[in-house]
Amino acid sequence: MTEQKATNVTWHEHQVSKDERFKLNGHKGAVLWFTGLSACGKSTIANAVDYKLHLAGKHSFVLDGDNIRMGLNKNLGFSPEDRTENIRRIGEVAKLFAYSGTFALTAFISPYKDDRNKVREVLGAGEFIEIYVNASLETCEQRDPKGLYKKARAGNLPNFTGISAPYEAPENAELVLDSDNKGIEALADEVIAYLQKNGYLSA
Ligand code: ADX
Repeated sequence: MTEQKATNVTWHEHQVSKDERFKLNGHKGAVLWFTGLSACGKSTIANAVDYKLHLAGKHSFVLDGDNIRMGLNKNLGFSPEDRTENIRRIGEVAKLFAYSGTFALTAFISPYKDDRNKVREVLGAGEFIEIYVNASLETCEQRDPKGLYKKARAGNLPNFTGISAPYEAPENAELVLDSDNKGIEALADEVIAYLQKNGYLSA
């Protein structure tokens, strides 16, 4: 639990409820939490889902690992403590998006089960959809779009997830995407089908 540092602060209830915002938009808001190894396809799939939602007239936004680490989380690295803080902040931001009536699609390795579960806890039931983008280490290493696996194997990148830092796969994800064997379009369609089937696409 992160310590509450500020004293003399009071929680203000919003006058417009989240359900009223959902009604205005004609669909619910939720966090679609993509997790998986570097190069497993998280960002690409999240962007494909984002595009499909946009075309269908639904509000959505992608929060992406590398981009957020250049702004909001500029001061964080890849130690276990920094990754935990990275995920905590993203979780809080994603919650704000969701409660504003938007689908927040987050694409972070988020390697620790505890960190992901803490985000689940700050959201309400059904508001956190964990999506495990399952690609084997071999697949990710073969893709290696940024050359980071090569660097890590050569010993030039400490704490690299899958090589010299752990990845704890989800055990109860709402959705598991087989990124070893299926393409981006098919996987993005699986996510949309999940949202449709579970009533997220209407208010
Ligand atoms: S997380 O573990 O804290 O969730 P996050 O998703 O924000 O990670 O950032 C991962 C991205 O940072 C990778 O896709 C990769 O481009 C880059 N990166 C740089 N160093 C590392 C490292 N040591 N381990 C993992 N990713 C790294």
